[in-house]
Amino acid sequence: MLTNERMACVIIVGAQWGDEGKGKIVDLFTQSVSAVVRFQGGNNAGHTLVVNGEKTVLHLIPSGILRDNVTCMIGNGVVVDPEILLKEITNLKARGLLKNDAQLVISDQAHLIMPYHKKLDQLREERSGSKKIGTTGRGIGPAYEDKMARKGIRFCDLEIPEVFQEKVENLLKRRNERFSKMFNTEPFDAAIIVKSYLGFYQELKKYVGNVSVNVSELIKSKKHVLFEGAQGTSLDVDHGTYPFVTSSNTVAGGAMSGAGVGPTVITDVIGIAKAYTTRVGMGPFPTELLNEEGKYLQEKGGEVGSTTGRTRRCGWLDLVGLKHAVRINGLTGLALTKLDVLSGLKNIKYCKAYSYNGKILNELPANLHVLEKCEPVYEELPGWNDDISKVRKLEEMPAQVLKYVKIIETFLGIPVILLSVGPERGQDIIIRHPFE
Ligand code: GDP
Ligand code: IMO
Ligand code: MG
Repeated sequence: MLTNERMACVIIVGAQWGDEGKGKIVDLFTQSVSAVVRFQGGNNAGHTLVVNGEKTVLHLIPSGILRDNVTCMIGNGVVVDPEILLKEITNLKARGLLKNDAQLVISDQAHLIMPYHKKLDQLREERSGSKKIGTTGRGIGPAYEDKMARKGIRFCDLEIPEVFQEKVENLLKRRNERFSKMFNTEPFDAAIIVKSYLGFYQELKKYVGNVSVNVSELIKSKKHVLFEGAQGTSLDVDHGTYPFVTSSNTVAGGAMSGAGVGPTVITDVIGIAKAYTTRVGMGPFPTELLNEEGKYLQEKGGEVGSTTGRTRRCGWLDLVGLKHAVRINGLTGLALTKLDVLSGLKNIKYCKAYSYNGKILNELPANLHVLEKCEPVYEELPGWNDDISKVRKLEEMPAQVLKYVKIIETFLGIPVILLSVGPERGQDIIIRHPFE
């Protein structure tokens, strides 16, 4: 039974290339928490929650929003497109959610995604042709570039209209010149941007606050807090398959700087992984299946991107990648999703090492040219035909499923704490609840 005597602060991160089912698991665990905090990324994320057949896809708002008593916070590490955030808020309100404005807090230090970030993201991708990253086109990279170059604009800059106007005007002087030289595009009109962003701010300012202070107060009063990662470890700007990554630290360490809390409060770090692997966008993917089995996973798993609608590339489980995720994030447990999708396959393969130029590699190589040429070293086990989507008890799982789970646990050296067998809230078996 849940008590507040022992506070729990849990980070949930994707252990692969995103879309592992983080939204579903965060929604499930929020039954027990006071707040959910997003700490990086932006509306490149698409987190899907399904409750009683009703689907909600969240891009910026944390996945605790379906529960009225959970405060949802957008930390300083997130880059926010205010127009998209407002749309998300409006849609939720239209469904009778987010009735209490205090349920949402946006950090005044969070950086804004500006129209020129989106344009630059899209133009660069168009220009790059076959060398493109395959970004979501939401302006994420350019917004983080400006943040690091100390040219970003933050929510707090909107507090004083004249300050905001001056910043936009100054920035656009150089930007417009660059845009017209490089891309031959029409200049951005500072006045239009200023007017629209000040308009967004009028509607959003009631939510703007100090996330770090809010989270610290909850922790001090022994409340449970969940930090919700976006994307996944292999998309991390430092530890992923660079440069085919996103522009933020998606790993557990990012939760500290991106929410404004210290590492000493964290009690658990849970990684989410699919029972196979998917990737959307370009870049190396050693276990990718370009055959009927890949098609099976894609179709049965409904592997279509929640943000861009692109078909996700599919392949076998990559334990080398997961071992990397265990180490980088300091994972204390793994939640394994989409096990139901594997039902019906004659054999299931999993990759335990890579072979490169006749050598065995047990770790993910940093050099992309090496990774691109890595061949997965597979082992396999017989599959199962049972429909496991209705199984709710570990002892009722087919022996083959349990064997697969055991192999994963043994290889990674951490426990699998949850098995997910369908998209609906409740289609899962919780082995250890990080908040109970
Ligand atoms: P996220 O970005 O990590 O939150 O994941 P997405 O929501 O982008 O993608 C995961 C997809 O898988 C969504 O459509 C979920 O509804 C779905 N899903 C999550 N867990 C399961 C599961 O155990 N089985 C099945 N069949 N679908 C799942
Ligand atoms: P969630 O939170 C899967 C991928 C893009 C591209 C790369 C860079 O739903 O798991 P960006 O627009 O971030 O500059 O694109 O990262 N990507 C994701 N892939 N899930 C996501 O989020 C993603 N967010 C970005 O496809 O390859
Ligand atoms: Mg997603």
